[in-house]
Amino acid sequence: MDLMQSRIAMHNGNKLKLGLFAANCSNGRAMTTAPERWLADWDSNEQLAVLADEVGIDFMLPIARWDGYRGETDHQGTTLEAITWATGLLAHTKRMTVFATVHAPLINPVLAAKAFVTADLVGRGRFALNIVIGWNDAEFRMFGIEKRREHEARYEYGQEWIDAILRMWGPEEEFDFTGKYLDLRGLRLKPKPYGGTRPLMMNAGHSPAGMSYALRNCDAFFTAVHYRDAADAAQDVVRVKEQGRQFGRDIGVYTVGQVVCRPTRAEAQDYFRYWTEEVADWGAADYMLSLKGVKREADPKRYDAMRRSLIHGQSGFTMIGTPDDAADDLARISAVGFDGIGFSFVNYLRELPYFAQEVLPRLYHKGLRESAPGG
Ligand SMILES: Cc1cc2nc3c(=O)[nH]c(=O)nc-3n(C[C@H](O)[C@H](O)[C@H](O)COP(=O)(O)O)c2cc1C
Repeated sequence: MDLMQSRIAMHNGNKLKLGLFAANCSNGRAMTTAPERWLADWDSNEQLAVLADEVGIDFMLPIARWDGYRGETDHQGTTLEAITWATGLLAHTKRMTVFATVHAPLINPVLAAKAFVTADLVGRGRFALNIVIGWNDAEFRMFGIEKRREHEARYEYGQEWIDAILRMWGPEEEFDFTGKYLDLRGLRLKPKPYGGTRPLMMNAGHSPAGMSYALRNCDAFFTAVHYRDAADAAQDVVRVKEQGRQFGRDIGVYTVGQVVCRPTRAEAQDYFRYWTEEVADWGAADYMLSLKGVKREADPKRYDAMRRSLIHGQSGFTMIGTPDDAADDLARISAVGFDGIGFSFVNYLRELPYFAQEVLPRLYHKGLRESAPGG
């Protein structure tokens, strides 16, 4: 396998890549006031990465977030910036791929190209890039941008942004880059990414424009629709892979999830009920809905359903149960064609050891992992 293919495979033969999602943000993806919730401090992130690397987790994937969602906990209000977070974690790990999730419209492409190379050299080819076009207007205002571009233009700009970066990573000594949005003169960039390759690239977008951006430019597409179960997602995966082939790409499809894994189903369900109902941060859910312009008066039933689903991360797969249940759920996710999943726990550091000890060996026996932890 050449180095680029090895990077896309995250340097291993695991059939279903497993990652931890959103650990750079306070609360991760759990909108809860539970006292054990994730605080996203650096020491915990570093310990988590070292542990995840040891047990064989394939990747860590951050959220690009600049402002929190208020409520009692200011959900995702304490965040570590994604590129510097990834660089720090790459310095402390040996095997795992670490993504930065980066807003193309907010980060200057020269700074981005150089920061990514630096991270990639620190990680000796384990840095990866998740490109996002952005969610919240308020975050753009923090950067002095009053209004985001129109939808199609966001992806046009994103195209120039990645084209400029790829050229800076290429062999040219010096060049100008002139597009509709960017006019960059006398570009020179040294050093280049690790080993004469480039980082694995992924994009998260729902719309046709978002998807075609991913298919044109990326190795993987990151989808986060709310799925009832794996069968519900099968069509999506097949469609993305088919369209990828039209672009001459064997595109990877990744999704997200939330895991509550306990020795018995009752314990797992009780804990899920506790943090999503008894001690949920409803204020944060209301704030998020207000940002989306969703009002309760318009349709109270729909509003309440959306509010409930936001509490546990809104999208992807919610996996609640025993280690056998988690392994079965993940096997079904793999069987419909997903290449990987980034999931979250309420407290990553407390919950990962049990998951690693109980679920990873089961996945090994199902043929989804090359080895079990310690093996
Ligand atoms: C799985 C997933 C993860 C995303 N992560 C982020 C993120 O970390 N920060 C952010 O501002 N937007 C994030 N987005 C939003 C996307 O950048 C994009 O704005 C949104 O999906 C709408 O894309 P569309 O216009 O192509 O539908 C994410 C989207 C998805 C699907």
